[in-house]
Amino acid sequence: MSFEIIDLIPKEADEELLESYFDYAEILFRETYPTDPLVPRDLHLKLLLVSKTGEIKIRKLARSSETGEIIGRLYLLIITEENTGFKENKHSAEIYISILKEHNNESISQVLLKEAIQEIKQYEYVTTADSCGYMEREWKFWEGLGAKLALEGAQNRLYMKDIDWRMIEEWRQQGHELAEKEHVDLFTFEKCPEEIIKEYSTTYTEIMRLVPFGEFDYIPEPTTPFTSREAEDNFKKTGYEWHTLATREKNGEISGLTEILYSKSRPHKVDQDLTGVKDEYRGRGLGKWLKAEMMVFIKQHFPEIEFIFTGNADMNAPMISINDRMGFKRFLTEKCYTIKFEKLEEQLS
Ligand SMILES: CC(C)(COP(=O)(O)OP(=O)(O)OC[C@H]1O[C@@H](n2cnc3c(N)ncnc32)[C@H](O)[C@@H]1OP(=O)(O)O)[C@@H](O)C(=O)NCCC(=O)NCCS
Repeated sequence: MSFEIIDLIPKEADEELLESYFDYAEILFRETYPTDPLVPRDLHLKLLLVSKTGEIKIRKLARSSETGEIIGRLYLLIITEENTGFKENKHSAEIYISILKEHNNESISQVLLKEAIQEIKQYEYVTTADSCGYMEREWKFWEGLGAKLALEGAQNRLYMKDIDWRMIEEWRQQGHELAEKEHVDLFTFEKCPEEIIKEYSTTYTEIMRLVPFGEFDYIPEPTTPFTSREAEDNFKKTGYEWHTLATREKNGEISGLTEILYSKSRPHKVDQDLTGVKDEYRGRGLGKWLKAEMMVFIKQHFPEIEFIFTGNADMNAPMISINDRMGFKRFLTEKCYTIKFEKLEEQLS
């Protein structure tokens, strides 16, 4: 199979290229999620067009010279000085290479990887390549290069029909009792109120940094009022609703939070994002209370959804303990690899 490498720059790409790209992406999507509705193309385009300060996204495509179809893609993410986590994470570039099953051969992946290396060389501070994926052929590719398995996790799903509402109600009840006894308040927002955004951003950073990331040399970037507002804007641009539920202790401190995302363009599901409770407030039922209250919120606001989706590291015992009892089931396994840039170059030479 002969192929050529082309750039995909979403805001400059013509319709023909975008449509071929979506054809490719939909084949991959069907392989991974055979029974799910496709991502509508207008939403997919919006998702391609959003950007985040301090991130450079490079996309390159392998296009068949014979048929003109897209058969592979490189997605490369590098951070720059404007990223709030530049100091901690500048060494890492994320590299995602996905080839269609029927065209899977090492040479396309290797050519795309060489393209990635050429790009990365312009950023002398990058020393590590990291990659996560759900496909066995991608795991094999990284393992073949000698990359280290840094983290294993799962995409889990909870189907609404399987929820044990009695247990959810019990967790809520226990939460209300704790709230009364220890004067804990529950609050919710979609747009973070201006008067708490600084405090909330600091708490969010602290809680994100409690999530286990295995052997990744990665520290979640500080969330700031600027990055929070930018994320809100990006969700608005792509049509996502972002709902947060959080707890505040008697001493005034925000102790825990949980958040979800919902898009009218993908009305069959809700994505459960971060849930966390600060170390000193754990083991009192706050995690279960937050998740239970969010379930009720979801049922009231999005009654038509089929399932809730969440991702967890296999090593995250407390979160898995809660999610398992709620009825979340493993849907896909995710494996994340890391490799020193030097070693990667050696392997390819
Ligand atoms: C997961 C987390 C939110 C739980 O918060 P919490 O307020 O302590 O949760 P709760 O007290 O409601 O419940 C925790 C449950 O996990 C269980 N648990 C805790 N550690 C456990 C372990 N190592 N193995 C098995 N179960 C465990 C507890 O027994 C408890 O259940 P129980 O009350 O029925 O006995 C908290 O540990 C956390 O913030 N972790 C870091 C952030 C994170 O990784 N989030 C998930 C990624 S999105």
